[in-house]
Amino acid sequence: MVRIKKAVFPVAGLGSRFLPATKAQPKEMLPVVDKPLIQYAVEEAVEAGITEMVFVTGRNKRAIEDHFDTAYELECELERAGKQALLELVQNVIPKNISCIYIRQPAPLGLGHAVLCARPVIGDDPFAVLLADDLMDADPGYPSAIAQMTRLYQEEGASIIAVQNVPREFTRQYGIVSGTPYKDRMEKMHGIVEKPSPDQAASTLAVVGRYVLSGKIFSYLEKLGKGSGGEIQLTDGIAALLNDEAVYAYRCAATRYDCGSKLGYLKAGVALGLKHPELGDEFAQYIKNLTR
Ligand code: G1P
Repeated sequence: MVRIKKAVFPVAGLGSRFLPATKAQPKEMLPVVDKPLIQYAVEEAVEAGITEMVFVTGRNKRAIEDHFDTAYELECELERAGKQALLELVQNVIPKNISCIYIRQPAPLGLGHAVLCARPVIGDDPFAVLLADDLMDADPGYPSAIAQMTRLYQEEGASIIAVQNVPREFTRQYGIVSGTPYKDRMEKMHGIVEKPSPDQAASTLAVVGRYVLSGKIFSYLEKLGKGSGGEIQLTDGIAALLNDEAVYAYRCAATRYDCGSKLGYLKAGVALGLKHPELGDEFAQYIKNLTR
């Protein structure tokens, strides 16, 4: 059975929707309660048994590398001060068996190009792609969204793309897929189009930022020209892959928070704050008083 061991995190984007918060720090480092967005995505991948995390970075993204590295001075300071619990927290941001690999995307040429930059590390193996600004909170009793998808890849032997239904007026913000019902929560994909207008969209089934892709995608990505928005689009690579191989769309058992938007980010903070083991009860009380 193929095991998915590698995940790509395209983190080179400018985060312009979140300025000025992202002027001097990567959008992936914005915290939701007490962890940065990128850590939620990495934890999701760890839960799926992925051991090689490939970050496709760009300018001003050093904080991501530092976050997953040893923080020597901080650790010495915490140790000296006897703050053992905090020391362990800082030391265990990522399990010891995980490797982090950083590749620079030299210019912001699009998501498809960012994924293509990871080819030298991924080779021909199937791999996961996680867009950290889509925070996926798995439904109770389910493993993480990407773990649900790697399991399906193993069952079907075909690429799996995460989707959710969106109101038709929002199709212009997403890759939109068309397909026919297959198994529970799944469609067999026929087509995928990046950011169609509401009147052109074949459906309202929108791609959310989780993919498990066959290594063959690279041979299509390298041939692509500019697509929607003048960028090399992952969506167009998947559309080309579809001519060759089966691809399935999957509605994850998870709530997706679009943390690339201010409203989605606020919602994630409230939802995860309410669930937080230490703060949840007090925060719930606060919200209750506020809305009374
Ligand atoms: C990217 C993809 C798009 C997908 C979206 C999900 O777009 O190109 O197909 O629906 O992520 O968040 P972006 O949001 O980077 O414009």
